[in-house]
Amino acid sequence: MTSPAGYSRLHIILHWLVAVLIIPQFLLNDGIGGAFRAAMRGETAETSLLVPQHVFTGIAILALVIWRLVLRAKNGVPPLPEEEAPALKLVANLTHWGLYAVLALIVVSGGMAWFGGLGFAGGVHEALTTVLLILIGLHVLGALYQQFVLKTNILDRMRTPRL
Ligand code: HEM
Ligand code: HEM
Repeated sequence: MTSPAGYSRLHIILHWLVAVLIIPQFLLNDGIGGAFRAAMRGETAETSLLVPQHVFTGIAILALVIWRLVLRAKNGVPPLPEEEAPALKLVANLTHWGLYAVLALIVVSGGMAWFGGLGFAGGVHEALTTVLLILIGLHVLGALYQQFVLKTNILDRMRTPRL
């Protein structure tokens, strides 16, 4: 497949939508955390709207991630800028695939914990959210390095559709 000149409008919208939806998952997880720990002790916790919010937003994130993977398979992605050293290209690719994999596994482990009542899955879920934060940090640092040090104008790729 020949590489496209950039991302489509839909792909860009999905990228930023997922980035925004991740925020409440980190800021508003006390409801589900409390309910889960109470359930693990065999108690019933107070019902909170934050529980369905966490579950549905998480499932929506997985659906949008799968949609993006379908778009990637259908349209391809633009090649990384030539200015970038091969080792950095490898890090960028690993980070992108790592983000996809970790997001999917977070939703699966969250579902196993919540719907399956599995304590260990809750632990895996928590650990993966830390890995996600590290990958997001690496991703953002990489984007800023490209933009301001290598001056490749990479941020424009996730702003201006070219497909
Ligand atoms: C917070 C959650 C985020 C996730 C999960 C995420 C994930 C990804 C992934 C997987 C890609 C690869 C292209 C694709 O398949 O869509 C990508 C590309 C990109 N992201 Fe993010 N991103 C996030 C936030 C951000 C932020 C905050 C910035 C800005 C600093 C940013 C800037 C970019 C840019 C410029 C690209 C294009 C890179 C290229 O074409 O080589 N992302 N992102
Ligand atoms: C990308 C989507 C998701 C993200 C980013 C996310 C993030 C988080 C975070 C940051 C916590 C708090 C961890 C801590 O206390 O250190 C948490 C807890 C939890 N989440 Fe999620 N979550 C997502 C999806 C889901 C889904 C879809 C479910 C259920 C179907 C779920 C179920 C849970 C449960 C049960 C807890 C409590 C775990 C425990 O206390 O051991 N999460 N989540």
